[in-house]
This record gives sequence, C-alpha cells and structure tokens, in this order.
Amino acid sequence: MEKRFITTPIYYINDAPHLGHAYTSIAADVIARYFRGKDDEIFFLTGTDEHGAKIAQAAEKAGKEPKVFADEISGKFKDLTEKLNISSDAFIRTTDPKHEKYVSDFLQKLYDAKFIYKKSYEGLYCVGCEKFLTEKDLVDGNCPDHKCPPEIQAEENWFFRLSDFASQIRALIEKDEIEVRPQSRKNEILGKIDLGLEDISISRKSVEWGIRVPWDETQTVYVWIDALINYLSATEIFKKEDFWPPHLHLVGRDIVWFHAVIWPALLLAVEKKLPKKIFVHGYFTVDGQKMSKTIGNVVDPIELVNKYGVDSVRYYVLRDFPFGEDGDVSIARLEERHNNDLASGLGNLVQRVLSLIKQNNISMSDIDFTQRKASERINNLTENLKFQEALIEIWKLIAIANKEIAEAEPWKLAKEGKKKELEEFLHKSFEKVLEITETVSPYLPETAEEIRIQAKSLDLKPIFKKIQD
Ligand code: MSP
Repeated sequence: MEKRFITTPIYYINDAPHLGHAYTSIAADVIARYFRGKDDEIFFLTGTDEHGAKIAQAAEKAGKEPKVFADEISGKFKDLTEKLNISSDAFIRTTDPKHEKYVSDFLQKLYDAKFIYKKSYEGLYCVGCEKFLTEKDLVDGNCPDHKCPPEIQAEENWFFRLSDFASQIRALIEKDEIEVRPQSRKNEILGKIDLGLEDISISRKSVEWGIRVPWDETQTVYVWIDALINYLSATEIFKKEDFWPPHLHLVGRDIVWFHAVIWPALLLAVEKKLPKKIFVHGYFTVDGQKMSKTIGNVVDPIELVNKYGVDSVRYYVLRDFPFGEDGDVSIARLEERHNNDLASGLGNLVQRVLSLIKQNNISMSDIDFTQRKASERINNLTENLKFQEALIEIWKLIAIANKEIAEAEPWKLAKEGKKKELEEFLHKSFEKVLEITETVSPYLPETAEEIRIQAKSLDLKPIFKKIQD
C-alpha cells in the first residue's frame, strides 16, 4: 500500500469553467480512482487560483469586489468537480487565509536564505497567461494562446535566483528523478533549459490583488509563485503532510515550464522533496484554436453533462484523442461515441447478459461478486496514463463478449430447453461483464456502480439511452 499525492492544477477563476478544465480533472480522477482500487492511500487535490491581475480585471469588468467575484466563480469550479464525479479529497482556494500565510512564510524563507534580490525589469507581459513573453514567443505580435498583444511592463521587482538551479534541475529531469512525460515534453524542457535560465521576478508592484510580500508591503507575490505553493500549503491545511512529495502533477502543456522547472527550483531552495512525476496533456481546440475563455470559443462541460450524462463526457474526452496530444472537440463525435460505444457496445452487452439471466431464472448463487479482478494488462495502460489505449482494449473485450453472444445464440438454448448449457454460457458472460465493469470503473464510475447494482438486483433498465437526431 502506497501513499500517493495526486494533483490537478488550480484553476483561474476569471470566468466559468470550460471543457479544457474538465479534461485535466477527469484525467486526474481516473488515476486517483485507479490507485484507490489498488488499495493505495490517495490524497487527491484540486482547487482554484484566485489572485493576480487577470482575476482583478475580470472582477472589475463584472463590477464586483475581487473576493466576492472569486467566491462566486470558485463555487462554479467546485460544482463542476461534483458534477463530473471527481473524487477529490480536498479543494484549495488561494484566498484561504491559511494558504496566504503559508505563502508569506515560504517567501520569507527564500528571502532569509538569500535567494531573493531586487532588480528593475522591463518585459512583454500577457495577462491571459499571467507571464512574461519574449519577442520569439509572439505570432504576428500577439500571444499565440490569447490572440492579443502583450503589454509592456516596467517595474522594480523582487527576483528569485532560478539560474542557480539550472544544472541541478536539468540533471534531475534528464535522469527521470523528476519524470516529465510524455518524452517529447521532457526533451522540450531540456532543450529550453539549455538555452539558459534567467532569474524570475516573483513580485509585482502594479498588482493590488495578491498576497503582500512579507518584507515589502509595496509589492504583492507574483500569482504563479502563490499558485505553485498551493500543493505544499494544502498538505498542511488538510493535514496530509505525510503525503509529500507529490506522486503526480497533472498539467496542460501551457503550464509545464512552471511545474517542471520553476516549482522544483523553489522546492530545492527550501529543501523540500521534489515531485516524482509531471504528466503533460495537450489542448482541446475548437476549429484548430485553443479553447479559452479569453478567446471566447469555449464548450460548457455542465451543459454536456446535463445533456449526455457524466460518463459520456468522461468517456469522450479520454477516448477520442491520445492523452498528451491536442484534440479538436466535436459534439457530433461525442454523440457517435455515446451511441456506438456506450449504448450499443457496453450498454447492450450488460442488458443482454442480465436480461437472459433474469428471463431464464439462472441461479447466480455460485458467483462471487466481490472477488472480481480488473484486467492487469489494461491496468498497466491506465497506470501509464494511456487512457485512449486502455479504453480501446476494454472495448475490444466488450466487442468479443457481444460477438460470442451473437454466435452462441443463447436464446435458442433456452428455447431448446438446454438449461445446463445455457447456465454455463451465461455464467461465463456474466464473469466477463464483471471483469469489464471493474476495469472500466475508474473511467466510468457512475456506470460501473449502476451495473453492479443491476447485476445484484436484476432490476433492469437501460444503462445508456441512445441520442436521437
Ligand atoms: N492557474 C493556472 C494553474 C496554476 S497550477 C499551480 C492555470 N489555470 S487555467 O485555468 O488556465 O488552466 C488550468 C488547467 O486547465 C491547465 O492544465 C490547462 O492546461 C488546462 N486547460 C485550459 N485550457 C485548456 C484547453 N483548451 N484544453 C485542455 N486543457 C486546457 O493555468
């Protein structure tokens, strides 16, 4: 039994959540549920990132005080967590005074250890990304993710000596002591480190909405530093210190640099153990453009869940694209997957097997419901975050089981009165249904539970209803 600390990023609350956020949370949930199923002890953390210029501007636009605005939108992220059946153990908010105090103490430690100094800086800042960009990052003068020009920011700020840690971090990533995956992202990070690491500014003079720098009241802590520290502060706030270091940080590709380079450097500076694995997923795009609240091309996950059911949404996002790569979102594809894979595939198999058992009064007294094992081969795929491959393999099992039924024509055995053969066949099919249910359970927890209930009670109803045009 291992202790595993699994995290999602904490989400910006400048606007309501979209499908991109749902994606990171669903993936983390599958991993958390999978390891819980192996009897590991899990601390699964999610939450919201609530300070900084981006949030302050959004609050102002809405005509609300930042904290009032933060409470409102953070609530929506919390609701989404429930709606998506995310089994998180804690929800952190960076406006929690306990987190704010932790950040302040953390910065003081960096300052006392002489990792902080003051410097004037001028750069191109994208408020959407909450980070400085270089000329090289821009496409036609715009931030490639937010499609608008960055603003010039000139300030005297506090800087963290990131450059001191360059060679150490490079070696840790190279040797997989911090495992950055997929491999292509690891190579990208190593290549970027080789271009040289500059020290980074960790405070802002111009941003009011933030945590005060403890030794300089005129500045607030840069929102990314405030945010990264959540992983540590949460272990203290929720009394899970013994879960440190993180087993897995799950992140989108826009924020891998912060997690793979800046975060480990901060931890090294305060002598804390480093995260073991950082897994980077791709973007959801709509017509080839990153789905983003700032661009305004978002798909609302709540609407999707209300219309198609939570497990259809979970299934679609993990089945349609390899995890790690970008994927263009299509509601038509979601409906196809719902009808073909869920209703006709899994739903049909369960329905056929259970109704044949019920109709023919097949005795189930010999079947041990509790000892069912998930397929180890497929488990390995899940463990390595190969969600799409795992689901393809599960659906092969479903297709085989459905085919066996079509070929064996058990309804004929029933008509011919071959009760013994019918019973043997249905027991085998039932075993398969139970194995499939266990294997698919981290992905489709609601469905798995429904199958277990119906398998016991034989009180049958369709698991998935087809969507009609
Ligand atoms: N607040 C920071 C994270 C701080 S973690 C210490 C942040 N927030 S975010 O709301 O912009 O993004 C949170 C997560 O959602 C990231 O992993 C990001 O990659 C993911 N997504 C946001 N838009 C996305 C898509 N269009 N597609 C897939 N995921 C994307 O960054």
